Order: sequence, then structure tokens, then C-alpha cells
Amino acid sequence: MDFLKQIALPQSEAQIGVLHFVLNVIYLILLPFISYLFGALVLSLYTNRRGRISGGQYDLRFSEEVITHILPTKNIVVLFGVVPFMALVFAYAQLLQSSAAISVSILTWGAILFAAAAAFASSYQSSTKLSGVLNSISKPNDEIETYRSAMIETRQTSGKYALIFLSFAVYFLIAGTSLASQPDQWLTVSSIVQLFLSLEVWVKVVQFLLLSLTIASLGTVYFTYSWQGGKKNIDNGYSNHVKKTALPIGLLSLLAQPVFVVLSIVLLPVSALSGLVFLSAFFIIFFVFITSHFVYGMIKEFKNGYAGNAFYSFFLVLLFIVVQTTSSLSSSTQKHSALVAYHYDKVHEELLAMMGIGVVSMTGEEIFGAKCSACHEFGAKKVGPAYKEVLPKYENDRAKLLSFVLNPQKMDPAFPPMPNQGLKPAEADSISAYIMLMYKQAQK
Ligand code: HEC
Repeated sequence: MDFLKQIALPQSEAQIGVLHFVLNVIYLILLPFISYLFGALVLSLYTNRRGRISGGQYDLRFSEEVITHILPTKNIVVLFGVVPFMALVFAYAQLLQSSAAISVSILTWGAILFAAAAAFASSYQSSTKLSGVLNSISKPNDEIETYRSAMIETRQTSGKYALIFLSFAVYFLIAGTSLASQPDQWLTVSSIVQLFLSLEVWVKVVQFLLLSLTIASLGTVYFTYSWQGGKKNIDNGYSNHVKKTALPIGLLSLLAQPVFVVLSIVLLPVSALSGLVFLSAFFIIFFVFITSHFVYGMIKEFKNGYAGNAFYSFFLVLLFIVVQTTSSLSSSTQKHSALVAYHYDKVHEELLAMMGIGVVSMTGEEIFGAKCSACHEFGAKKVGPAYKEVLPKYENDRAKLLSFVLNPQKMDPAFPPMPNQGLKPAEADSISAYIMLMYKQAQK
């Protein structure tokens, strides 16, 4: 997938900010959709099987409806699934450009697997609709009967394949994105096989499974009772069947969620942690409890209004999962992004210089005269310490000196803090090279 790295352009700091925003939007479409689709496939295949074995008409109807809620038409899967998945791959390719992480290749395979899953899911959806129509014919002749059993056959096969491909796509999605949040593994992980052993990935996979069961069961209840005033053609028997099937699954999968939220935080690398990560964990758990409150309410005494409340508050759970995912990504890729932005500044300056729009780029010596000499000398202390006193510790660590000059920290209690001189990365680079060179020459 090297071509993706080739087309990725260096990004300025502002562009990286925009990229993170775009990523939030993509996730907000993709996560609810993929998890609903996954959960709906699981529930639909399961109730279809149970219905065929026991001849339960309610089960068969449930199986049909649960999938048509999320796929009312075939194009939806392209719009809400395939397109955002591809956009996600491009966004990660931009963010991780010129890093050693194999995330982008993994995600690209994920997108391909997802496209296959989407094709099977559409076929599942259309054969489901057709068998529904064929079932409603009251006196079928032989020809219709044969066609009907062929349809059932297609339906089962495509449903199964859809679920298999979707499982792999989800696994690749989770493996690729969680590797992106673990820069310390970028160099060591060179194939997806290594990630099969990653506890972090598996915790997230289970968390996803729980989410998908919750959203599909709460969605089913919502679309049956609340959306557009609820379905008109439900008899009591079917209504009870929906409640009895969907509500317990919804409640149990919800209540297990907090365990995995905590586990996934414990397994995050320190570099990925931030206040926002903890805050969103708090809100995830908070809205999980609000949602379960409504679901439990529906189990005790069903009210149509609760169906909407539960479904909407579950979206807030998903929202905070997205915030958590993207904020841990942005804090753990901060260093890499700074490098990319630095690279961007250089490329930008070179480009301008090439076009003859000379950027007034000062040499280290000029910067020293303009911005440092007021407070520093090499051999004696002024407002700030003498360079010969402070530079030795940076002798083998240019990067550290560069980062101090770009962003001065409080160092020595004997001095006031050094004000930030507002240098560009390239300028900080040349000034730190310059003072280090002068210092070393003075040593000789
Ligand atoms: C307004 C005065 C002022 C200016 C201008 C200034 N500095 Fe400083 N600098 C200080 C002070 C004060 C300290 C001591 C800070 C401390 O110990 O917390 C310091 C400390 C340093 C240190 C030592 C850090 C350490 O590890 O202890 C370096 C290196 C340095 N400055 C480089 C620069 C460079 C390069 C420039 C020009 C781009 C510059 N300074 C401009 C006041 C200044």
C-alpha cells in the first residue's frame, strides 16, 4: 500500500488539526453504522436459524425486520459504510505518513474486506425482502415454491458470508487503528499476525461486539415502537416477541460495557492518555447507565417513549467512544505530527525559494544577534545563563535543545523563566545548530 504513502502530502499544523476533526466526523458515521450492521446480521441470522428449526413465524419476521431497519435500501451500505471507511484510510494515511506503522496497509485490507461484506449484505437484504414478498403469496404454485427455496438458499449463504467478511473487516479496522495509537510498536509490528496476540486489540473487539448487540437490539425496539409513531401492523404476539428477544440482549450487552471501557484504558500506552480520554470514559459509563435505566424501564413496564430515549442516549455512548478514540490517537501521534509539520515547513520554504519568492530565512548567527544576544553570551551570564554552562548537557541531544528553544521550560531556580522567542521550527533548528557549533569551537 505504498502508493498511499506516496500521495500523502506533508501537512502543516493547521491541516493536521483539520484532519483530526474530519476523522471525528468519519468515525461518527462509521462506528454506529458498522456496529449496527454487525449486530443486525448476528441477530438476523440467529433468529432466522431459530425460526427455521422451530417453525416460529415471529422469529422469521424478526429476522427480516432487524436487517431491513439498518438496510432499508441497498445504497445505504455504500453511503454510510464503504465511503467513510475509505475516507478513514486516507485520513490515517495522511496522519501516519512516513512513519513505520503498518496501520495504513491493515486498514486498506480492512476496507477491501468491508466492500466484500457490503456486497454480501446487500444481497442478504434484497433476498430477505424478496422472500418476504414470496411468503405473503397465499397460494403459491410449484414454480413460486422452487423460486422461494432458491431465494432462501441465497439468503442464508449471503448472510453468512456477509458476517464472516464483516468480522474480518472489523478486526482489521480495530487492529489498524489501535496500532496507530501505539507509536512504541510502530517499529516492532511488521505484520498483522503479531497483532493477533495483542490483548488490547481483543479487548476492543469484544467491546465492539457488545456495542453492536446493544445498538441492533435497541434500534429494533426503536424502529418498531417509536420511529414515525411506530409500526402499525404489529399484533400482540409479535410485539411481545420483539420485547422478549431484543430487550434482554440490549440490557446485558450494555451492562458488560463498563468493564471493557476500564480495561481498554488500562491497556492504553501512557503516551495515549490525556484528560480527555479519562473524561470521555466517564461519560461513556455515565450514558451506559442512563441507557440501561431506560431499557430496564421497558422490561418492567413498557412505554413507547422509552424506546427513543434509550436509542438516543446510546448514541451519546457512541459519541464519547469516538471522542476517546480520536483523542488518544491525537495525543499518541503528537510527536509524529510535529515531525510531519516540521517537514511541511521545510518543503514549503524550499518551494517558495524555488519559485523565487525568497523567504527571508535567517542564518543561525543572525537569529542569535536578533533574538538571543540580549540575554545570552557564550562565556558569561547575562539575563540568562552562559551558554558554556548550559550547553554541555545538550551535546549529544540536539533534539532536546531544539525542543527547549521552541518551547522553553523552567530549568534553573536561579534564573527567571526564559520567554518563548516564537521561532519557526526551521529557525530553531539553525539557531540551536549555531550555538552548539560555536560552543564546540570554543572548547578546542
Ligand atoms: C529575555 C531574555 C532571553 C532571551 C531573549 C533568550 N533567553 Fe535563553 N534563557 C533565558 C533565561 C532567563 C534562561 C534560564 C531559564 C531557566 O533556567 O529556567 C535561559 C535559558 C536558556 C538555555 C538553557 C536551558 C537549560 O537547559 O537550562 C538555552 C539553551 C537558551 N536559553 C537558549 C536561548 C536561545 C537560543 C535564544 C534565542 C533564540 C534565547 N535563549 C533567548 C533568557 C532569555
